[in-house]
Amino acid sequence: MLYVGIDLGTSAVKLLLMDSEGGIRKIVSKKYDLYFPHPGWSEQNPEDWYTQSVAGLGELLEGQDKSQVAGLAIGGQMHGLVMLDKDDAVIRPAILWNDGRTAEETDYLNEEIGKDVLEKYTANIAYAGFTAPKILWVKKHEPENFAKIAKIMLPKDYLAYRLTGVHCTDYSDASGMLLLDVEHRCWSKEMCEICGISEEMLPKLYESYEKVGVVKSEIASAFGLSDHVVVAAGGGDNASSAVGTGTVGEGRCNISLGTSGTLFISSDHFVSTKGQTALHSFAHSDGCYHLMGCMLSAASCNEWWNARILNTTDFAAEQAGITDEKLGENHVFSLPYLMGERSPLNDPYARGAFVGMTMDTDRTDMEQAVLEGVAFGLRDSLEVAKSLGIDVKKSTIVGGGARSAVWRKMVCNILGIRLEFPGSEEGPALGGAILAAVACGEYPDVRSACEKIVKVTGYEDPDPVLVEKYEKRYRQFRLLYPALKEAFPKIQ
Ligand code: XUL
Repeated sequence: MLYVGIDLGTSAVKLLLMDSEGGIRKIVSKKYDLYFPHPGWSEQNPEDWYTQSVAGLGELLEGQDKSQVAGLAIGGQMHGLVMLDKDDAVIRPAILWNDGRTAEETDYLNEEIGKDVLEKYTANIAYAGFTAPKILWVKKHEPENFAKIAKIMLPKDYLAYRLTGVHCTDYSDASGMLLLDVEHRCWSKEMCEICGISEEMLPKLYESYEKVGVVKSEIASAFGLSDHVVVAAGGGDNASSAVGTGTVGEGRCNISLGTSGTLFISSDHFVSTKGQTALHSFAHSDGCYHLMGCMLSAASCNEWWNARILNTTDFAAEQAGITDEKLGENHVFSLPYLMGERSPLNDPYARGAFVGMTMDTDRTDMEQAVLEGVAFGLRDSLEVAKSLGIDVKKSTIVGGGARSAVWRKMVCNILGIRLEFPGSEEGPALGGAILAAVACGEYPDVRSACEKIVKVTGYEDPDPVLVEKYEKRYRQFRLLYPALKEAFPKIQ
């Protein structure tokens, strides 16, 4: 049989066709626009997700035996607020995971409702990108839109709704709404009350690998598919990526160097962050749990530096000058907070910065600083995990940034852990296909599917000399944000 995995990302949707043995038959990608209507805001049109996904599906299936397609599942960008009215029409553009407009609502939740109360209800505190503060923002700033809300959905769930007609979500993605009691896997009545919404507005909860419906017959027949293609609930893109890299079970780690940068640690049991809420404590797509640190700008920092500032798309040429002897020797630092920062700073006012330039600083030093700044940000999340007694010795790494050998080397030595390279960088899309295969009964559970399908094809070990050099640089990096913190809100 064949399974379709869809990665509904921030810059594009990727679709992947996988066979029963886990072989990847084809990958298709379709871009869509991202809008920044104000500095720090970030929106997309849900209709674009649907149009481009459907166009991608057509291309993906071209020349394939369509009668063999048994199921599909979506791994999607998390936290985005999609609001539907009573006729299931989209009320306003979706407010995305990297949108920082909710500073006031986030402060209200953390300071007035209280972090300890939020943690009791949801296992997490409020971050500007989470869904609940966005609901409060709409309630205050767009009361006419708030009054129209009949359903609140996450991005991938809107796409699943358009494909199946079912309002559903899964526990991993729902965890990032700050509306789910993560430990007990149910909606929090208290959080619904705090946000002024009813539980009926929220979609039905499923495990990621459960069937939620089938592709609507008019869509199935347009593509020549059978009328019983199963749609599984899917997952948040990070949980889905973890499935696609075999990051399931106790103490495994996956790093994603995509638009965002994440450090994802899987666990067999619910993990309380014990008040150390700089990491998120979320449900996983294998039925268990995970901890996660999320940087809002990772590969997007490099994209910004190359495409917008240097006017080039030849990323490899920009990185070619970063020779081995330059690693750990750069005196220029870059703060990667172009959209504010989530983990561990929780500061929507934080901004990017270059520090340390001298008259001999060149373009390569700046490029190197951008890449290193992202790796230092990931190290910040690793430090929080360490403070919780979690000993990460190795990690897989995926996402567009993981294609760069020099960037992988920086991450490996700045974190001081072995990095393993899975056969496919398409974590969320492959994870989606695996979840669909489990929903169709091809595999008994997510873990056994991962064992069979996911392969590690290479690795990089830290070099003790570089680890020491980077340790010194990391300590210097850590001085910079505190020195600028007070200034950031004043320069908005
Ligand atoms: C995770 C997060 C991002 C998005 C990116 O909490 O906000 O990784 O899911 O798509």
